[in-house]
Amino acid sequence: MKIKVWDAPTRVFHWLLAVSYLGLFFTAQNERLLEYHAAAGYVALGLTVFRIFWGFTGNQYARFSQFIKGWQAVKSDIRHMMRLRPQRLLGHNPAVGWIALFMLAMTLAEALTGIIIYGGEENRGLWAGLFTYDAAVYASAVHKPLAYAAIAVIVLHICAALFHDFIMRENIILTMITGTEEDNESWQNRVSHMPPFQARGGRPLLRLFVLIAVTISGGLALIYLPPEGKSDISSIKQVKVLDERGFARRVKPNAAWKEECGASCHEAFHPTILPAASWNRIMANLSDHFGENADLPPAAKREISAFLVASSAERSTTEASKKILYSIEAGSIPMRVTETPYWVDKHSGLTEDIYKRPSIVSKSNCKACHPGSEAGSFEDRDIGIPEK
Ligand code: HEC
Repeated sequence: MKIKVWDAPTRVFHWLLAVSYLGLFFTAQNERLLEYHAAAGYVALGLTVFRIFWGFTGNQYARFSQFIKGWQAVKSDIRHMMRLRPQRLLGHNPAVGWIALFMLAMTLAEALTGIIIYGGEENRGLWAGLFTYDAAVYASAVHKPLAYAAIAVIVLHICAALFHDFIMRENIILTMITGTEEDNESWQNRVSHMPPFQARGGRPLLRLFVLIAVTISGGLALIYLPPEGKSDISSIKQVKVLDERGFARRVKPNAAWKEECGASCHEAFHPTILPAASWNRIMANLSDHFGENADLPPAAKREISAFLVASSAERSTTEASKKILYSIEAGSIPMRVTETPYWVDKHSGLTEDIYKRPSIVSKSNCKACHPGSEAGSFEDRDIGIPEK
């Protein structure tokens, strides 16, 4: 006899959550898909909130009270599983019940940290304006590892469903579609004379391993796709800075800055690589600019100063800026980025003769090794030291 176990809302919830997770993983690969990623995150959040309510008001098997059991029950459940003789219970068994609860909590945590990141970094979404950039950095420290944990739990979940299928000879994936399971008596009748792993023709053990290998490599593909390659240099965009209201926007290169600071001895150093105090000090001493007179008419000086200060390291959203900034000792006002402890540390492996190569000439020629330097981008994957 078939028993109705999963009611329609629970099934619809399950498959929609699976689809939204798939969408979340694929949209996480590319920043251009960020809006879709956020949308899929809100869907997952909505579904999770629904499932929590449904855990109190759904049918018997959907309720937490049915599948959240104490440690004794969980222990005996695990013991059965270790002996490859899992208990057959309708709905979730006690160990799986906790995993289901963990998955709900994990989705909730991902959604909340995601909203904080979207608000703090992009100033968008539900709580835009409520979080600072630093809050977003902390939230990222939870959001990213938890995403990998989610992949691990999902892979485990699919493997467990396959094991269930092959050991207990019961297709629980189908159960999540139709909602019905056999009662214990007819299940016993059907499987009692079948040795494990031989419910279906062919080579079930081999098939189980193939399916599990596919599941695991699918999980790995989600983590490693697409491989991080070099950016197309022409597509490196200006980095983002926060304006006075805390909104993130891309730096708009100032024409006078490009013209005056980039035309002479060195490239136009990006405003995000030094703090405002450094820029003010540099701009106040242009008549003795590292041994040269680089003085400018007052209007140009004011315009360039304003541009540098508005996008200084304090306002920047990049990792490089934060690290440069935090490495500077309190009270010191470096005049060159190459004097900051973070810069020195990061370039300590490079010898003087590398800097003497004709295409590099000087360590201030950031662009030679960091093609995105004039956009404020110093991503590891883009670094390349010219051979000559
Ligand atoms: C000769 C090549 C070369 C030049 C010139 C150079 N760098 Fe680098 N830079 C490197 C290499 C190589 C690394 C990676 C070091 C590592 O990770 O061990 C690096 C790392 C960095 C990083 C850290 C990147 C990160 O996020 O991990 C920053 C920031 C940086 N450089 C800024 C600059 C700036 C600013 C200039 C110009 C003033 C400059 N670099 C000039 C080769 C160079």
